[in-house]
Amino acid sequence: MSRPPPLATTPSAADRALVPADQLPPDYEALAEKNEALGGELLRCYEQLSFVFEITEHIANLQDPAAIQNALLRRCATMLNAGALFFDRAGRCVPITCGETTARPVEVDAERLQATLAEEIEAVRRTGRSRAANLTPAARRRIGNVHVLLGTLRCRPAGSHDPAGVVIALRDGREPPFDAGDPLASQAVLGYGGHILSNVRMVQHLKQTALETVCALTNAIDAKDNYTSGHSERVGWLATLTGRVLGLPGAQLQMLEWAGMLHDVGKIGVPEHTLNKPGRLTAAEFEQIKLHPRLSYEVLKPVASLQPVLEAVLYHHEDCDGSGYPAGLRDVQIPLAARIIRIADTFDALTSTRPYRPGFDVEQALEMLAAGGGRVTDAYLTHAFIARFRRYMREQPGDLRVRFGHTVVADDAHATSPANHPS
Ligand SMILES: [Fe+2]
Repeated sequence: MSRPPPLATTPSAADRALVPADQLPPDYEALAEKNEALGGELLRCYEQLSFVFEITEHIANLQDPAAIQNALLRRCATMLNAGALFFDRAGRCVPITCGETTARPVEVDAERLQATLAEEIEAVRRTGRSRAANLTPAARRRIGNVHVLLGTLRCRPAGSHDPAGVVIALRDGREPPFDAGDPLASQAVLGYGGHILSNVRMVQHLKQTALETVCALTNAIDAKDNYTSGHSERVGWLATLTGRVLGLPGAQLQMLEWAGMLHDVGKIGVPEHTLNKPGRLTAAEFEQIKLHPRLSYEVLKPVASLQPVLEAVLYHHEDCDGSGYPAGLRDVQIPLAARIIRIADTFDALTSTRPYRPGFDVEQALEMLAAGGGRVTDAYLTHAFIARFRRYMREQPGDLRVRFGHTVVADDAHATSPANHPS
């Protein structure tokens, strides 16, 4: 939405002098006065409209619903030049710190205000229309000599039946009362702001739903493949650890975490006895397992919110020397996210106990990962991961024990393990 163009100025006295006095209509002075008043009203409407644009532009750049609601209400108080503003929702009436305003501050107890205006509040909540309240003398005795304007803020996602919040703006009785333009302006601001709030809440709800879907799929994989519990979750965490070293933005870190959590979801399509076979895999079994990145890709492909993780999932078994699968990509042909997942997956697989070998301890796993850097995994990223993980080990030993407490000290079993299983 673009800001409205500057308003044209009203005719000046010099402009009026261009018309000879005998050609002016007899009621010219009255018309001029009326015109002046209309011009003033128009200018005020323009200022309010400009304010509406300014507020909505500001809150449209915010992401957090609480911050949006707070900014919206504060600026609404400024626009209405209110001395106090309250927000009544879910049975609670709370004062809002007003933004910049030249009005005298108004001090009213929130509970008393809510009780006194109960009928007005419910009427506005029901109709959704902003309006100035006509206070009875009894009401004025309870909450003081104030002007009151009420409006609704509907900030609920579509389909929700939560009642709207009611905004109560107060002006000291010694100030000019709210005029006819104030309900219109507040309705425009609160209406548009409410749509933004509802949309942001809807997006958050969808993200939460997507996250729950990811977790459900992750649990399904971990239940089928007897990896040490939590492998997928740790791969997601390790991938974001690397992503942060690279300075990747928040959205990419989120996608890395999800890619890590979901990279093996295609194992759902691989027979359980193959996944958990204690001995060496036959060539046919190995080929079956090699299908899982493609299966992961196919499982996740229909989920719109997971499109950004597809490449990382599909190529998480590619090796830098071109010997990986499914496409035999090399070096930077392999998408960055897939190279990051490859490192996290390899490291965590090494530390996990498998049916065909016990897990290596963290030090051994780091050494083995370093040995494969440049051949299996990306050399630069492997170096960055190892350096970051060592720092983590130094700085957060307690967290290390929680996440990697399952690792065992190496023993001779590793030397004879028939480990041809992919991670
Ligand atoms: Fe995998």
